[in-house]
Amino acid sequence: MGANKTLLILPGDGIGPEVMHEVRRVNDWLRRKRAVNFDIFEDLVGGAAIDARGTPIAPETVARAKEVDAVLFGSVGGPKWDKLGFDMRPEIAILTLRRELGLFANLRPAVVFDPLVEASTLKPEVVRGLDLMIVRESTGGIYFGKPRGVETLPNGEKRGFNTETYATHEIERVARVAFELARTRQKRVCSVEKANVMESGLLWRETVSALHEREFADVELSHMYADNCAMQLVRNPRQFDVIVTTNLFGDLLSDLASMLTGSLGMLPSATLGGLDAKGRRHALYEPIHGSAPDIAGKGIANPLAQVLSFAMMLRYSFAMEEEAKLIESACTHVLASGLRTADIMARNCAKVSTQVMGEAVVRELDKLGG
Ligand code: IPM
Ligand code: MN
Repeated sequence: MGANKTLLILPGDGIGPEVMHEVRRVNDWLRRKRAVNFDIFEDLVGGAAIDARGTPIAPETVARAKEVDAVLFGSVGGPKWDKLGFDMRPEIAILTLRRELGLFANLRPAVVFDPLVEASTLKPEVVRGLDLMIVRESTGGIYFGKPRGVETLPNGEKRGFNTETYATHEIERVARVAFELARTRQKRVCSVEKANVMESGLLWRETVSALHEREFADVELSHMYADNCAMQLVRNPRQFDVIVTTNLFGDLLSDLASMLTGSLGMLPSATLGGLDAKGRRHALYEPIHGSAPDIAGKGIANPLAQVLSFAMMLRYSFAMEEEAKLIESACTHVLASGLRTADIMARNCAKVSTQVMGEAVVRELDKLGG
């Protein structure tokens, strides 16, 4: 591989390829105006890979993902592949990447963009200025725990089972990411589990507390049961800065948190691994939204979450904070100028297509940093 930074783009299914197309526009802008050059590889994942190769993610794709500096992921899935066996679902692609690349820390911000404060189903005074980060553990817990399966009981009845397991090191490494992140923010971490009913939750709580005492006493730590956390997120979401939680609770709570912002189509995410022997960190960036098969192919999807995922990639994988901020500002300016895709449409705004939204971001980039 050459001297350039390398990137693997996996657009996936549904609106994935459409919104990824707008990222390419932003990437082209960076190349032209900022001499930022990525060597880009592209490949199929999810349903697209099932159709072409009979597997949701080919081994070559996983190998490539391990080689590159960062992976930019679109979204996978759709009704066409819903009837396939458990190991052949499009979702296996993202789960395989998380596991094979050791991407244990899934960072899911919930940010209310000021021009969109009315888009939330909650009152503006509850969500205005919201900026919280959920750090979801993403290679362990009940998603991957063993034993798992469906067995037939002696009486012929079936029994399905999955296992929630967390070892100390799994808890420590994700908690460390949360504490370090908090240090760059408001220095508050809330650790979320169900220590009242689950042994693994109790171990989680004790491990996070011990690490806090040992290494992060400068950060404020609180603990919350997951059910209470769901309630608190709706009651008063601004009480949180960083939330760290398990794979399953993080899946639920991050969907909840994203909707506080009223705009699922706006939110990016990063999934980070540990440092490898060369000091490199595997990382994957993807929007929080799914493949939205109902609107796929219509050119109306909101490309901003994918564009903001690209910005997150610049920040966390390439330390290009200035360029990341530039892209984030460009997105905010476009919204402030009244352009809206259908998902965030509001009174007195102009409804635009995916492509027009992408072009508008590039125009703002020209104004801000050309
Ligand atoms: C997510 C998704 C995935 C998950 C699915 C697609 C496997 O819902 O990234 O939150 O449950 O982790
Ligand atoms: Mn989810």
